[in-house]
Order: sequence, then C-alpha cells, then structure tokens
Amino acid sequence: MNWIRVCAEHELAPGETRVVWDGDTPILVLNYDGLLFAYEDRCSHEDYELSAAPFDAAEGVLECLLHSAKFDVTSGRPLCPPAYAPLVKFPVKVEDGAIWTRDDR
Ligand code: FES
Repeated sequence: MNWIRVCAEHELAPGETRVVWDGDTPILVLNYDGLLFAYEDRCSHEDYELSAAPFDAAEGVLECLLHSAKFDVTSGRPLCPPAYAPLVKFPVKVEDGAIWTRDDR
C-alpha cells in the first residue's frame, strides 16, 4: 500500500489542515500544536465532510457543520451527540521533509 504525499512539512503549520485523496478516500490531515493527525474526511454521524468546518486548534476539537457533533482531534473520539462512533483514523508520518498518509484499511 502506497503512502500519499500531503505537502512539504513546513506547509502545514499548527492549526492548519489539508485534504488529500487516497483512491476514493478523502483524508483530513491536521497539525494540532505541532502534532499531526489524519482522519477520514467524513463525519461518523452521516456522510459529511469534516473539512467543511474550521478546525478549532485552541480547543483541539473538530466540529461537524451539519449537526454540530464534536470530536477530540487527538483520538477521533466523539464528544457529543449526534455522533457516537469515533472517526476513522489513518497513519501519518514525516519523511524526506514531507508529510505522508494513507488509507490503511
Ligand atoms: S453529519 Fe456530522 S453531525 Fe451529523
């Protein structure tokens, strides 16, 4: 399974996000206070893009625009209804000065 290049390491500053595709899978990559996380860009409540909402880097929370479910950005754990399932988490790494992720399912 191949890794997907997200961007150069310096192009994703703390508080910023990127969306890349691995085949048919949209992956939301975030820099939260210098730590990188990657999730399927799909709310676990219904099929809606989490990247449509701004990332609240102060609280470390991803909020879905459609019905306002919130998720812990470090784990993908839901913090409030109407979402009860965690987000799908993907691996992310820094190599050769770039950020990489992939759909490892
Ligand atoms: S689709 Fe995200 S909260 Fe409903």
